[in-house]
Amino acid sequence: MKLACRHISKIFGEGEKATRAIDDISFETTEGEFLCILGPSGCGKSTLLKIIAGLLKPSSGEVCYSGNNHAGPMNSMVFQEHGVFPWMNVMDNVAFGLEMRGVPRKERYARSLDFLKRVGLSKHAWRNPHELSVGMRQRIAIARAFVNNPEILLMDEPFGSLDAQTRLILQAELLKIWSDHKKTVIFVTHDIDEAILLGDRVLVMTSVPGRIKDVLSVGIDRPRDIDLENTPEFLALKTKIWNSIRLEVERSMTGDHDDA
Ligand SMILES: Nc1ncnc2c1ncn2[C@@H]1O[C@H](COP(=O)(O)OP(=O)(O)O)[C@@H](O)[C@H]1O
Ligand SMILES: [Mg+2]
Repeated sequence: MKLACRHISKIFGEGEKATRAIDDISFETTEGEFLCILGPSGCGKSTLLKIIAGLLKPSSGEVCYSGNNHAGPMNSMVFQEHGVFPWMNVMDNVAFGLEMRGVPRKERYARSLDFLKRVGLSKHAWRNPHELSVGMRQRIAIARAFVNNPEILLMDEPFGSLDAQTRLILQAELLKIWSDHKKTVIFVTHDIDEAILLGDRVLVMTSVPGRIKDVLSVGIDRPRDIDLENTPEFLALKTKIWNSIRLEVERSMTGDHDDA
């Protein structure tokens, strides 16, 4: 399975109020790849991901896909927040996609429990999300995404609202699950360290309108862990990405466009 974006642009609004959010974006993913999309706030990352997910229509360009499913890739999206249903217990949250597909209760609970164990939440299966921390709620969203067994996992800054320690733990958990299941992941972030730690490749975007500025191969051996961040190869890559993105961050802070 392979996904390709070809010349995707998106303009919001019309006439004088029109905003070009992303402009002529083209790239391909390969099977099982962990692709990070890195860019400053407001550069169009969420817009791009929603277009890939089919939640939003591009103004021009197309998302191409070669796989078994003619309707397009089966994908799961994990958002930064609002990912869990507050009125459902943890188990039903994780099992939601399976329930929608008509999987019988016993089977969907068994499959969900598997992933709840993987994210360390099996003890909390019957609690309500509001009894849990933000980090735990984000684990629910990750378990739900994986249990659906999508061909592509789309993650929009899923760890953006977490404290640094929790984020490190969830990054490690995500890498472990990913390496066991080898899904294609498209992971959006504004955090350079996170992009290098997780990604096979990092696609660097310009500030609004978002274009692709650079595509870098990370090329650091796996499994990776947090110690990586002190190695010369990590720091060299970080400097390279920072030099590429610095101007964009400055532009996005001083520009007169709306900042999302
Ligand atoms: N539904 C919308 N209507 C109008 N403008 C939008 C809409 N969604 C996003 N935008 C604009 O498009 C640009 C990119 O937004 P977004 O994709 O959310 O960026 P990011 O996720 O990188 O922070 C921003 O200027 C934002 O204001
Ligand atoms: Mg966003």
